[in-house]
Amino acid sequence: MRWNPEVPYNELPALPPVGLDLEPKKVLKAAIDARTALATLAQAGQMLPNPNILIHAVPLLEAQASSEIENIVTTADELFKHADSGGGDHATKEALQYRNAIFTGVEAIKNRPLTTATAVSICSVLQGRAMDIRAISGTRIANPATGQVFYAPPEGADLIREKLSDWERFVHAEDELDPLVRLALAHYQFEAIHPFHDGNGRTGRVINILMLIEAGLLNDPILYLSRAIIARKNDYYRLLRAVTAEDAWIEWIIFMLDMVGESATSTLRKIGAIRSCQEDIAVRARAATIGGRDAQFLAMLFERPYSRINTVAERCEVSRQTASTWLHALVRAELLSEVKIGRELLFVNHELLDVLTRPE
Ligand SMILES: Nc1ncnc2c1ncn2[C@@H]1O[C@H](COP(=O)(O)OP(=O)(O)O)[C@@H](O)[C@H]1O
Ligand SMILES: [Mg+2]
Repeated sequence: MRWNPEVPYNELPALPPVGLDLEPKKVLKAAIDARTALATLAQAGQMLPNPNILIHAVPLLEAQASSEIENIVTTADELFKHADSGGGDHATKEALQYRNAIFTGVEAIKNRPLTTATAVSICSVLQGRAMDIRAISGTRIANPATGQVFYAPPEGADLIREKLSDWERFVHAEDELDPLVRLALAHYQFEAIHPFHDGNGRTGRVINILMLIEAGLLNDPILYLSRAIIARKNDYYRLLRAVTAEDAWIEWIIFMLDMVGESATSTLRKIGAIRSCQEDIAVRARAATIGGRDAQFLAMLFERPYSRINTVAERCEVSRQTASTWLHALVRAELLSEVKIGRELLFVNHELLDVLTRPE
């Protein structure tokens, strides 16, 4: 029977696709390139004097880009501003939940392998409410403007759970498949199963990062993968559909490998920029205030582009008065600028903010 985009695709086959060489030469070549870029990134992440900078910043940027693919639009600036309070407008809150979902997933796979249950908890955190496998029929992927249906995912909670069990088994199958090729296949499959009423794209993209960590290709969630995907969003949607419609697996795999490689390279460039910004500011901060010799203070200035008197006082174990003196000295030295949001006074490391938010 031919696949019909309007009819729930209950026949969605389990992975791996049969009768197809998944690793022809061009796939192997793209996989090697992506693996090399990723290995360089993982190493550079380890070499940063304070890896918290990346572990704090990249998931926020990733959250912004991945949410933007779903038209939930906020700015990186807003996200950094509200990173600790969880506030901001609706889109900002939702992207902050996405960031939390990344951390939930990273913690979860420290204790047990990635499963359907992990996906459910990721989706729940990013949606901010308990999510479960879709039980109601009628979910469609359609063009919002024209209503044209591109894809109808399988229906029936039991059937969806079965397909997810197959997906789980494939994720952890002990065969010779390259882990990045496995990621590409698994991401398609997760999206095609579309287990939730909403949040499937974002949950699937969190899982991409988790698969890299499980495979030992990354230690922390420091790959800015969704930025690369959003830059080619039309291809992303077109190729997902082409796998279903015409078994265009090789194009899809190469697309995902390219996304991993490109994002590893651009994240690496960002690390370089953060490092030089960090070194430069450390020198100037030492000259501007005695606080500039406090290791905790310097670390804080870099972990978060927005600082508050209270958090500095707490972390550096100094009085509010001292914290305020240090921060204001850096304002006078033009290293920080002062902004007021409501009743709150924030100190912005604008050079760092600039480095974090500009495209690499
Ligand atoms: N033709 C398709 N087949 C399977 N999955 C698709 C297709 N087109 C888009 N998708 C996936 O569906 C996601 C959107 O689903 P949705 O549940 O609304 O997720 P979110 O709420 O995170 O946007 C896209 O991000 C993409 O990953
Ligand atoms: Mg959605």
